[in-house]
Amino acid sequence: MASKPYKSKLFTFPYILLLTAVLFLTMNYIMQFQNATYPGSLKNLGWFDVVSPYITHEKINIGLVNMDELVDNIDSGWGLHWRGSTVKVHFDPAADYIKWKDLFPGWINENYPSECPEIPMPRFEDYQELDVILARVPCSGLRDVLRLQVNLVVANLLVRSMRKNNGPVFAVFTGACTPMWEIFKCDDVLWHKGNYWVYKLELTRLKQKVLMPVGTCQLATPILEPAGQPREAYVTVLHSSEDYVCGAIALAQSIIQTNTTKDLVLLADVDHISQYSLKGLRAAGWKIKPIRRIRSPHAKRQAYNEYNYSKLRIWQLKDYDRVMFIDSDLIVLKNIDMFFNYPQLSAHGDHKHIFNSGLMLIEPSICTLKTLLKKRFVVASYNGGDQGFLNEMFPWWHRLPEKLNYLKYFNTINDQLHEIPHDLYALHFLGFKPWMCYRDYDCNWDRLGHQIFASDMAHERWWNVYNGMSKKLKQYCSLTSEMDARIETERANARNATFIDGHWKIKVKDPRRPSILIS
Ligand SMILES: *[C@@H]1O[C@H](CO)[C@@H](O)[C@H](O)[C@H]1NC(C)=O
Ligand SMILES: *[C@@H]1O[C@H](CO)[C@@H](O)[C@H](O)[C@H]1NC(C)=O
Ligand SMILES: *[C@@H]1O[C@H](CO)[C@@H](O)[C@H](O)[C@H]1NC(C)=O
Repeated sequence: MASKPYKSKLFTFPYILLLTAVLFLTMNYIMQFQNATYPGSLKNLGWFDVVSPYITHEKINIGLVNMDELVDNIDSGWGLHWRGSTVKVHFDPAADYIKWKDLFPGWINENYPSECPEIPMPRFEDYQELDVILARVPCSGLRDVLRLQVNLVVANLLVRSMRKNNGPVFAVFTGACTPMWEIFKCDDVLWHKGNYWVYKLELTRLKQKVLMPVGTCQLATPILEPAGQPREAYVTVLHSSEDYVCGAIALAQSIIQTNTTKDLVLLADVDHISQYSLKGLRAAGWKIKPIRRIRSPHAKRQAYNEYNYSKLRIWQLKDYDRVMFIDSDLIVLKNIDMFFNYPQLSAHGDHKHIFNSGLMLIEPSICTLKTLLKKRFVVASYNGGDQGFLNEMFPWWHRLPEKLNYLKYFNTINDQLHEIPHDLYALHFLGFKPWMCYRDYDCNWDRLGHQIFASDMAHERWWNVYNGMSKKLKQYCSLTSEMDARIETERANARNATFIDGHWKIKVKDPRRPSILIS
C-alpha cells in the first residue's frame, strides 16, 4: 500500500495543469477586453480621459497615423459617444531602396551642400487644427527607415498642424513598440498604461527636432537661440585613471583661452582620482562634481575600458539645460560656444553610421539617465565602451562638423607629413597622448600600427596649450620614469626596425625627462 499516495499524487498533477491552463486562458480573455480598443469601451480609452481635460474647445480632432486596422472601430465608437472625431493621415511609405546607410553615410563632403533622400510626409494643409495624434510605431528594428518615417510624421504633424496657441501638444502611441526617444523624450511621458503612452510635448523643443535633417546625410542645423539665459556647461569625466589628469587640465586651459562664457564641470570619481589631482583640476578651471563610476557590463575585468560607462553620469547634471561633453584627450582651439545651439544628440561621425562619443551635445535628464542605466544590461556595445552603447541608444543623431572633433587619424600610407587643417575648432588625440610622449615629436611614429595616429603638427598644437599653462599646472604633466622607459623602448624598436619616418633619430630635448635617464 505504500505506493498508493504516490500514485494519487501522479493523478492530481494533470488536474493542476488543466486548472492552470483554464485560469490562464480566462485571464487572457479578460485582459483582451481590457486592452482592446472597440466602440464604447470606456476603460480602454483611458488616454482620452487624460488628454481631453487639457482641450478647452468642444470637438477634439484626432489624427491617426499608421493605424489602418483600427480606424473603423475607433471612429464608430467616438462618433457615438465622444467629443472626438478622427481623421486618417495619409502618406506614402518611404521607398524600399532607401536604406539606413543612405540616411547615415560614413562621410559627407561638408564643403558642398549635400542632400538627403526624401522621406515622404503627409500634405500638412490637409490636417489643420488637430488636437491629438494617435499613432502606432512599427516594431521594425532600431535602424529602420519606416520606423523613423512614422515617428517623423507624428512629430511634423504636431508641429505643423496644431492649433496655433503654442500650448502643449499631445501624441498617443499604442502598440508593442515605443516611439523613438531621440524625438519623443522620456521627460514628456504624461501617462502610461498597458500599450498606451501619452506624451505632452513642448512645441518649441519638438520644432528643433523636426528642423534637423532626416539623418547625418546633411550637417545639423543650429537651433534658434533659446530665450533667456540658458544654463550650459562643458563637461568631462575622470573615473579611474590618473593618466588623463594632465589631459583634462590642458582641455580646461584650452577652453578658457577661447574666452568661453560657459561653465566648466568635471565629474570625478573621488575614490579613484587623488586629492592632489583634484586640486590641480580645480586650479585649471574645472568645477568638480563627485560621482560614482559605472562599470560597463560588456567590458573585461581590469580592461582599459572597464568603467567607460561612467560617462552616462553627464545626464545627471540637471542644473544645466545643455551639456557639451568633451573627452580629456581633446583640446579646443577656437571658441565653440555657438555649438551649444544643437539638440541632443549631436556629435561628429566616427565610421559608418556611428558617431564618435568624444564630443557630444546632450540634454541632461534624470529619466534619460535611468533609462540608460537600466538598458546597459540588455543593449550591446560593439566595442565594450560607452561609444558602442550610446550609438545603440541614439541611432538617430545629428552631424556636427568634422572640425569640431577632428580625429587625428591618417590612413594614407605614403603621406609622411600627416598634416592637419589650420582652422580646427577642436582636436582629438587618438593613439598615444601628447603628454605621454616627449615634446619633441609624436611618439605614435615609433610604434608599428600606431603611425596612423601620428602627426607632429597636431602634437605641436597640444604643446602650445601646455606652454600657456602656469608652472603649477605643468607639474601635473610631468614625465614619470615608467613613461620615459616606455618611450625609450619604443624608440629602440623603431631604430632597430629602421622605420622610414626617422623620428627615432631625433635628439630628444624634452626638459621633463628625469635627468638621470638622459644618456
Ligand atoms: C580673449 O579676451 C582677451 C581680453 O579681452 C583678448 O585679448 C583675447 O584676444 C581673447 N581671445 C580670443 C581667442 O578671443
Ligand atoms: C574608455 O576610456 C578610456 C579612458 O579611461 C579611453 O582610453 C578609451 O578610449 C575608452 N574606450 C572606449 C571604447 O570608449
Ligand atoms: C632587431 O630586429 C631583428 C630583426 O630585424 C630582431 O631579430 C632583433 O631581435 C631586434 N632586436 C631588438 C633589440 O629588438
